[in-house]
Amino acid sequence: MKIQIITLFPEMFDGVLGSSMLWKAQKEGFVEYKYINLRDFGLGPRKQVDDTPYGGGDGMLLRIEPLVAAIEKAKENDPSATVFLPTPRGKLYKQSDAKRLAEIKRGMIIICPRYEGYDERITRWVDEQFCIGNYVLTGGEIPTMVLIDSVVRLLPGVLGGETSTEIESFQKDDTTIEFPQYTRPEKFRDLEVPKVLLSGHHAEIAKWRHRMSNNS
Ligand code: ADE
Repeated sequence: MKIQIITLFPEMFDGVLGSSMLWKAQKEGFVEYKYINLRDFGLGPRKQVDDTPYGGGDGMLLRIEPLVAAIEKAKENDPSATVFLPTPRGKLYKQSDAKRLAEIKRGMIIICPRYEGYDERITRWVDEQFCIGNYVLTGGEIPTMVLIDSVVRLLPGVLGGETSTEIESFQKDDTTIEFPQYTRPEKFRDLEVPKVLLSGHHAEIAKWRHRMSNNS
């Protein structure tokens, strides 16, 4: 799966995509991350990417020409990729979306808006607008990391191990999903691991975990 990120701040992704599972997923060939720097498509000698809004108002908006040029470049690399736009005005992103995107395995092109937003006409080039929660962030990079993390961990072979799929099987969009877990020591100060988990009784453990996962 090719994931192309259109951003003015590619360095923001270094720590997140360059560590742990997301890094391993790339190293092992499950996924390929590619950055497209929006500045490279800026206008004029100063490579301008933003401008003031028609009708007045605070702040600057990303102009349409650099955005479309960057999307077209990304489409040249992967013509069938889906184009995503993180925006507080998008549909609330859920676990079921992550599953759908991991299953279809189509390439992803993700635009990271900055400043006060973007020229709305860009939405003609966008397939899916998504919002990661009812709060406003300074740009699209963090929502993009959320999208990537949630999809890549579900690609077959990336997580591996029985436990991960077991936890996954309890997942529903609007319920608490994971049961509490414990490791050594059995007792820390006055805090003890629930006895059932030490019992070795697999059926009882499964029942307890199901109950604690708040699955309805
Ligand atoms: N951009 C700014 N805030 C956002 C949010 N909550 N979700 C998606 N994109 C955003």
